[in-house]
Amino acid sequence: MEQNRTLATEAWEILQRSIIYYYDRPIGTLAACDSSSPALNYDQCFVRDFVPAALVFLIKGKTEIVRNFLIQTLKLQIKEKQLDFLEPGRGLMPASFKVIHQGEEQYLLADFGDHAIGRVTPVDSCFWWLFLLRAYIKATGEYSLAHSPEMQKGMRIIIELCLAARFEMYPTLLVPDGACMIDRRMGINGHPLEIQSLFHMALRCAEELLIDNNENAKIRQAIAGRIPPLTEHIRYHYWLDPQRLNVIYRYKAEEYGQDVLNQFNIYSDSIPYAELSEWFPENGGYLVGNLGPSQLDCRFFSLGNLVAILSSLVSPQQGEVIMHTIEEKWQDLIGWMPMKICFPALKGRDWQLLTGCDPKNRPWSYHNGGNWPVLLGFLVAAALKLDRFDLAKRAMAISNQRLPLDEWAEYYDGKNGRLVGKEARKYQTWTIASFILAEELITNPNYLDWISYDR
Ligand code: GLC
Repeated sequence: MEQNRTLATEAWEILQRSIIYYYDRPIGTLAACDSSSPALNYDQCFVRDFVPAALVFLIKGKTEIVRNFLIQTLKLQIKEKQLDFLEPGRGLMPASFKVIHQGEEQYLLADFGDHAIGRVTPVDSCFWWLFLLRAYIKATGEYSLAHSPEMQKGMRIIIELCLAARFEMYPTLLVPDGACMIDRRMGINGHPLEIQSLFHMALRCAEELLIDNNENAKIRQAIAGRIPPLTEHIRYHYWLDPQRLNVIYRYKAEEYGQDVLNQFNIYSDSIPYAELSEWFPENGGYLVGNLGPSQLDCRFFSLGNLVAILSSLVSPQQGEVIMHTIEEKWQDLIGWMPMKICFPALKGRDWQLLTGCDPKNRPWSYHNGGNWPVLLGFLVAAALKLDRFDLAKRAMAISNQRLPLDEWAEYYDGKNGRLVGKEARKYQTWTIASFILAEELITNPNYLDWISYDR
């Protein structure tokens, strides 16, 4: 315990060195402080990367940086309908930004994915922003900030962007590949779980923070109308356990009409039955990675499953089953570093076709089955929410031993996460922040209230 505290203090000092300033005011954190690798865009403040850091700042009472971040990123949000249709849509939040100095002047340069490798759309940014706004309000009680006209408008246009009628047939959100933490092509276009979990969390945050007035009436009604079908859809259609596997195994295809069993026309041959029936622990289960026409992506994606526990997108019982699966499949899902981003890795022809032969995403590397310490904080939070203190401590013990020695690496490679990632940055900010967050949550699980919904 004593040793953990010393480590956490050391980590806190490093975290503070990553703070960036805008006109002398703290406004965010760099993605990494590693002078040994080319900066690329790691010298920027990423919205998703800042979240664990922001939670740590709130816990430590350093609320100003989070407040500034929320206000300034809101100013970067696209506010007007674009006429040439080549600009990002109204409501979109940037993936990242940096402070540019021009003589005496400073300004913020935002990247909406228009500079990013692969030109990926940062769909998750607006969800993380809403999540953070709610955490900030919970931590400080400053409701007036969320209730200001600017914040109300910002929230409204985020939800408008998500709920605009397009071509969807499902209550889930249709997005391009690489629209979240996995910001490279990984066969996660369509209705990936991580986006659905964050979308659900964000809808709940907006529902809580949008004032009940005439201006918000329509959007509040739309939110209230979307949460129940979304929840039901995920709890039922994304859920996979040995019983469901049996049902899907015997599915008939080409069924037409409203009341059919195999609604998405999943062909049994597309499911890795042999592997799954061996892999599943007794009483195991989890949410699958994606669902679409004749598509059920059975990969386990950690962040989506963990956020679904935090926002109560899954039922309490499903949450317990997910935790049980993590415990029983510890070697596969945790191994030498909590936690694997997705399992299993894409290999062979799947890797070629779905990643476009991406060498950074070789099997068991980086996004394709690598282990990411940033997931530790979310794992610990979800475990504590479900009273699995034992699992939280067990995950923490692994990180304690390795993270400082490996200089707070960004990610790990290998089937068991034993190798420091081939191209991993050192002193990766969200690695450090997530470690402190996990430690703080274990010491005081009451902070869970800021980042989760009981029911
Ligand atoms: C990588 C990650 C992304 C993260 C960024 C900055 O692109 O895939 O999730 O936000 O690095 O750390």
